[in-house]
Amino acid sequence: MQGCVIRQDWNLYTAADHAMWDRLFSRQVAMLPGRAAPAFLEGIDVLRMSKPGIPDFEELSERLQRATGWSVVAVRGLIPEEAFFEHLANRRFVAARFIRAPAQIDYLQEPDVFHDVFGHVPLLVNPVFADYMQAYGEGGLRAMQFGSIHHLARLYWYTVEFGLIRTHGALTLYGAGIVSSHGESVFALDDDSPNRLGFELTRVMRTKYRIDDFQQTYFVIDSFDQLLRQTLDTDFAPLYANLRSLADLEASAVLPGDRVITRGTQAYARARS
Ligand SMILES: [Fe+2]
Repeated sequence: MQGCVIRQDWNLYTAADHAMWDRLFSRQVAMLPGRAAPAFLEGIDVLRMSKPGIPDFEELSERLQRATGWSVVAVRGLIPEEAFFEHLANRRFVAARFIRAPAQIDYLQEPDVFHDVFGHVPLLVNPVFADYMQAYGEGGLRAMQFGSIHHLARLYWYTVEFGLIRTHGALTLYGAGIVSSHGESVFALDDDSPNRLGFELTRVMRTKYRIDDFQQTYFVIDSFDQLLRQTLDTDFAPLYANLRSLADLEASAVLPGDRVITRGTQAYARARS
């Protein structure tokens, strides 16, 4: 077995575990049309398994393999960065196998199988996004040599986890942290509080983020092609050197050079601090 991989043990899930998946799944599927990016919505069908409830990773992986050569493997909680990058670079997505308890239906700190599989897997069916995820893993392995993981992690955060994408002129969701969250699926598009800024690689990699609440800034890409091309075409060694000389930016910052789509009030963040 590759680094940190465990068996999913699908047979050990209880009826309550499967019922929680089905409840979360139907709630998000009902609210995401018109909000999530078309590529995400198209990918959801890959999760409709032959058995109800939490997807069996073996069956899911067979489908993903056929689509884009990806697979899903189970891990126990957070794994070391090198193992994480190594999996992505080899087109393996690592997922938690546990599912949240009923009391945590709207919020939990540690990603569970619903976040990991519902949030991340549909876009792995998209060939361009699938390539981006692999490129990110390869970039992560290189970033380790430069001591720049914290900069690269921000790219993952503001794209894979909390990214917005323009679709026919409107903003739509694609970040897994948003589409798997009932509250943030509304907040990220409709609330006056957060900034929505055009994606720019260096800008994103300077920006701090919060892990414990809705984001204060979302970055908007124009297409997955743009994201993939920038990642493949950028020479990250001089970029990391440059980033070391630049100050980190607060999560709520708006700079004179930013492409501002919405300047947020930050009222939500202020009320919560
Ligand atoms: Fe995630």
